[in-house]
Amino acid sequence: MQANSKPLALVVLAAGAGTRMMSDLPKPLHPLGCAPLLAHALASAAPLEPSRIIVVTGHGADQVEAALEDIVPEAVAVRQAEQLGTGHAVLQAADALEGFEGDAVVLYADTPFIRPETLDSMRAARASHDIVMLGFEAADPTGYGRLVMDGDRLMRIVEHKDASDDIRKISLCNSGLLCADAGVLMDTLRKVGNDNANGEYYLTDVPEIASADGKSATVVVCDEMETLGINSRTELAQAEANFQALRRAEMLENGVTMQAPDTVFFALDTYVGRDADIEPNVYFGADVTVESGARIRAFSHLEGCHVSAGAIVGPYARLRPGTEVGNNAKIGNFVEVKTAEIGEGAMVNHLSYVGDASVGARANIGAGTVTCNYDGVMKHRTEIGEDAFIGSDSMLVAPVKIGAKAMTASGSVVTEDVPDGALALGRAKQVNKPGLAVKLMDRLRAIKAKRG
Ligand code: UD1
Ligand code: MG
Repeated sequence: MQANSKPLALVVLAAGAGTRMMSDLPKPLHPLGCAPLLAHALASAAPLEPSRIIVVTGHGADQVEAALEDIVPEAVAVRQAEQLGTGHAVLQAADALEGFEGDAVVLYADTPFIRPETLDSMRAARASHDIVMLGFEAADPTGYGRLVMDGDRLMRIVEHKDASDDIRKISLCNSGLLCADAGVLMDTLRKVGNDNANGEYYLTDVPEIASADGKSATVVVCDEMETLGINSRTELAQAEANFQALRRAEMLENGVTMQAPDTVFFALDTYVGRDADIEPNVYFGADVTVESGARIRAFSHLEGCHVSAGAIVGPYARLRPGTEVGNNAKIGNFVEVKTAEIGEGAMVNHLSYVGDASVGARANIGAGTVTCNYDGVMKHRTEIGEDAFIGSDSMLVAPVKIGAKAMTASGSVVTEDVPDGALALGRAKQVNKPGLAVKLMDRLRAIKAKRG
């Protein structure tokens, strides 16, 4: 089937209360793979390149709209002041669809697993029908709307609460998602009433009313797993497991090496290049890219960072937002990096904190180095030049610059800039007192013995 080429408007329903989440956070903003559920619904439709994106908000509208601005700034939010049903919700998009000619696809913000290919099939089915509902064969149909078919034509949808025993025997269920001619959808929605068990304006009344007007409706069937909606924390946790399983499989298919994929956690937007090697127990928060051939060793935690080809991170490393690790650079165990560029081939191998800093190519940062970036009020930068050598346990008190090929002596507290090629000694000079250690110990033991 060839997908149609009509312009596409996306309508995402995100107004519901989400009562069963037991949460102050609006349901569309609960995270799955470190991204709000709403972002997943929008991502499903992104490959279809919708020319208009409309999100219907209601409960927690201010918060949902603020998040939407971050996810897809060009989207338009329309408010559904009262949640009078799914049909009423879609109708709120009428003004935003004014003058639009093409297809409308309706998605739910709490249904994150719809595949773009499924939406493509629905678009393709529009070639012979005005309305295409997405259906699935339910293992347990209880609670879902039932799809009443006549051949390939969808005659009507009956909500579980309104269904007779015969209708309840139908296992083909409504996912709630649809693709329809935008004009037909809006015209039909204006005719939908609320005479039903819930007293709501049902989106599901659309096929029957449209059929009476000489339009036709059909169903595209997808796997039940795709239509999985999230209503509770338990379902959110199950969805997370499902999401991780899908992402791991995708990563393996794309050529990423993982010894224990079940222990690696990805975000919606994680990118890992081919031949990268991800060791067990690695966590990717939002906004991480790992280039081809990089290696992320066990028990590392990454978010908001970029790891270049050939770099090695971990084991036990923490890369925080704003970290840029250059080609072939090394970040070793118990190293934390934040808002810092680590130059090509540079090494921060052990027990260090590098924050608000730049580290030049091939520089070596000794164990226990700390960039003292925070004075209690403001953050300051540390700049370390190419080929510099920072001695172990150096405290680099920012703002400070260490020149190219410069060195700091181990244990130095560096408060002033170090010129290129210079050695900075920022520690007390050592004094040895002959015999004093033994004397001191004897005295301490005597005091202890006296006390009993
Ligand atoms: C709906 C369908 C049902 C289908 C089921 C699949 C209707 C009448 N029923 O039922 O056939 O089997 O989904 O899960 O459409 N929403 C709003 N504003 C409202 C009401 C709902 O934005 O006034 C949003 C919700 O936030 C949610 C979505 O629409 O994202 C679906 O609403 P929900 O109340 O879950 O519908 P169901 O009763 O599950
Ligand atoms: Mg529901």
